[in-house]
Amino acid sequence: MPRKVSDRVVKILNTLYTREIGVVGIYMDQHIRTADLYPKLSKKLEESAVEEMKHAEKLAERIDYLGKTVQFEKHAVPKPSVLDLSTFLRQNIEHENEAVELYNEGIKICLEEGDGGSRLLMEKILADEERHLNDSETLLELIEKFGDQYVVTHLI
Ligand SMILES: [Fe+2]
Ligand SMILES: [Fe+2]
Repeated sequence: MPRKVSDRVVKILNTLYTREIGVVGIYMDQHIRTADLYPKLSKKLEESAVEEMKHAEKLAERIDYLGKTVQFEKHAVPKPSVLDLSTFLRQNIEHENEAVELYNEGIKICLEEGDGGSRLLMEKILADEERHLNDSETLLELIEKFGDQYVVTHLI
């Protein structure tokens, strides 16, 4: 019997995939730009980029499993980030907030369409995105509270 595939689920999987690839670009860009000045932060940003890439990979695998093609042409192009820690951390908090919202929306669609496998995948990734959001918020708070002292001790 052919597998029942929901167009709505495939659509949100592609949207999420596109977003993940965009965020990989943004974090990788920040990783490169901070490498000399803030090596420890740069390493964290590289790890984030790789983690987001793994999300994209899982989403692509799911789209393929559902017998559909990943929409490669729709990748978001990252805006060049400014090398100001507070500014780009604020941008990252926005990206992670959007991710949390979008995965929650995806989970809702999966429930409505009865696609438990896609829902499970989105729930796993949502937990990562909530952690990213929390990490970025905490880092920004620490930088704002302790300033250069924190940056010198923890990010260089
Ligand atoms: Fe992600
Ligand atoms: Fe994330």
